[in-house]
Amino acid sequence: MKNIVVLVSGSGSNLQAIIDACEKKHINAKITAVFSNKADAYGLERARSHNINAHSISAHMFLDAQGKPDREAFDAHLMKQIDKYQPDLVILAGYMRILSPSFVAHYLGKMVNIHPSLLPKYAGLHTHQRAIDAGDSEHGTSVHFVTEELDGGPVILQAKVPVFEDDDATSLAERVLVQEHSIYPIVTQWFIEGRLDMRNQQAYLDGKPLGMHGYAED
Ligand code: GAR
Repeated sequence: MKNIVVLVSGSGSNLQAIIDACEKKHINAKITAVFSNKADAYGLERARSHNINAHSISAHMFLDAQGKPDREAFDAHLMKQIDKYQPDLVILAGYMRILSPSFVAHYLGKMVNIHPSLLPKYAGLHTHQRAIDAGDSEHGTSVHFVTEELDGGPVILQAKVPVFEDDDATSLAERVLVQEHSIYPIVTQWFIEGRLDMRNQQAYLDGKPLGMHGYAED
């Protein structure tokens, strides 16, 4: 059976959606480990309660000669720990760290992320507030392959939500999360079934290239 490693930094509700989908056999794979850069991430609790190996690695342990955080060293260590599980797929589920180029290169084509915006709009942080501030009538979420460009890898699947006049970032984030929980397991299963791959910075589903908004572009 194929195996998956998931990286989280926080609540892990997307992790939960993927755990549930594995347990219901909507995804034919096993999550063998969850890693977090935050020891108190609730996602680690979720993993433990489903008997999934849960590890936290603190960035404070990896400092350079000047005592500054050493991203390369942290990522090299994380990579080593992840690779003990020999994952077929690495899933970033609310993992809030910038990845070093060597980490990205190591998992290129087998690492996906979910980002709370309709990419290429609003890469980076505070996406919900930015959509509200811009007066957007719709917002959403994107699952994409991870490449060196932050939130810039090829989109696989998006889901849209309406933005209402009385929305704040919290209400909008909640609406987006509901959609995330439905699209992330779908994309995971596509990958696990071998239907999805990335070639030359382009996502392919069933051998067909996907457009800039991924599958089901309207
Ligand atoms: C999700 O909305 C995800 O899209 C976002 O963090 C949230 C994590 O929620 N990810 C990013 O912003 C990555 N740039 P969760 O921990 O409940 O799954």
